[in-house]
Amino acid sequence: GLPTRVRIHEVGPRDGLQNEKALVPAAIKAEFIHRLAEAGLTTIEATSFVHPKWVPQLADAEELMPLIDDVDARLPVLVPNERGLDRALALGAREIAVFASATESFAKANLNRTVDGALEMFEPVVTKAKDAGVAVRGYLSMCFGDPWEGPVPISQTVSVSRRLMDMGCDEISLGDTIGVATPGHVRELLDTLNEAGVADERLAVHFHDTYGQALANTLAALEHGVTTVDASAGGLGGCPYAKSATGNLATEDLVWMLDGLGIETGVDIGRLTATSVWMARHLGRPSPSRTVRALSQK
Ligand code: HMG
Ligand code: MG
Repeated sequence: GLPTRVRIHEVGPRDGLQNEKALVPAAIKAEFIHRLAEAGLTTIEATSFVHPKWVPQLADAEELMPLIDDVDARLPVLVPNERGLDRALALGAREIAVFASATESFAKANLNRTVDGALEMFEPVVTKAKDAGVAVRGYLSMCFGDPWEGPVPISQTVSVSRRLMDMGCDEISLGDTIGVATPGHVRELLDTLNEAGVADERLAVHFHDTYGQALANTLAALEHGVTTVDASAGGLGGCPYAKSATGNLATEDLVWMLDGLGIETGVDIGRLTATSVWMARHLGRPSPSRTVRALSQK
C-alpha cells in the first residue's frame, strides 16, 4: 500500500542551481530558500562545501549560510571531504551529505577518486560529523545507469549502498543521475537492498526526469515502502552528462500526484508554484515543470 505521509527532500537550491549556467546572487538564493520553507518544505538542501572551482555556482556557501540561519527547516549541505566538513561546521550546519558513486567513471569525473578512494575520503567525514551530532545522508549516484558504462548491475549499487550504511550514514539517497531508470528496475533494486539489510525506512529516492520516468519511478518506490523523496522546485537544473539536460523530478509535479493520492506533504502547491515562477523569471527561462506551467497559466 501507499504511505499516508511523504517527506520531500527539496534539492532545488543545491542540485538545481549547481547546474544552472547563470550565477545566482546569494541574496536571491536566500530568498528562494525562505520562500520554499514558507511553502511548507521541511528539508531544503541549501548548498555545497565542495571545491569552488568544481562548482562555481555554489562557491558563495560562506556568504549564503548566515542569510538563512533563521529558516525554519532542516538545511542539509553537501560535503565531500574534511575540508568541506570543517567549512560547514564553522557555519553551523546541522546536517550534511556525502556523495558516492556506484560506478568508477563517475567517481573519477565527480570526485577525482576511485569508488574505494571516495569512500575512504568520506569515512573520517562521517565519523567526525556524527561525533558532532550532525546527521549524515549518503548519496549514491549512477544507481541505475551511467553515461560512460551503460546499465549498472544491481549488485554493484547494493554493494556501495551497504558500505555507506556500514560507515554510519543515517539515510541513503538512491540517485538516478541521468534519469534512465524505469519502475521495474526500481522495484528490483529495492527488493535486493532489503535482502541485503538496507530497509526502505533508511532509503530515499532521487530521480532525474530526463526520460520522463521520474514520477512513475517515484510511485513504484512509494508502493514498495520508501517515504522520502528528493525533488527540485520547478524542476530546476540538469545533468551536465545527459544530452537532453533536464533536471530533477519537479517538486510541483510530485506534490500534484501526492495531493491527488491523498498523501500528506505539508506543501502548499500554490505558494510553491509562485516561488518557481519567480525563480524562473530570475533565471530568464520558463520552468520545465508541467505542473508549474499548467498552474501558472490558469
Ligand atoms: P581534488 O582536486 O582531488 O582535490 O578534488 P584535493 O583533495 O586534491 O585538493 C586540491 C585543493 O582543493 C586543495 O587546495 C584543497 O585544500 C582544496 P590546495 O592545497 O591545492 O590549495 N579543496 C577544497 N577547497 C574548498 N572546499 C573543499 C575542498 N576540498 C579540497 N571542500 C574534490 C576533490 C572532492 C574536492 C572535488 O572533486 C570536488 O569538489 N568535487 C565536487 C563535485 C560536485 O560537487 N558535484 C556535484 C554534486 S554530486 C551530484 O550532483 C549528484 C547528486 O545530486 C545525486 C545524483 O543525482 O546522482 C548528489
Ligand atoms: Mg542529482
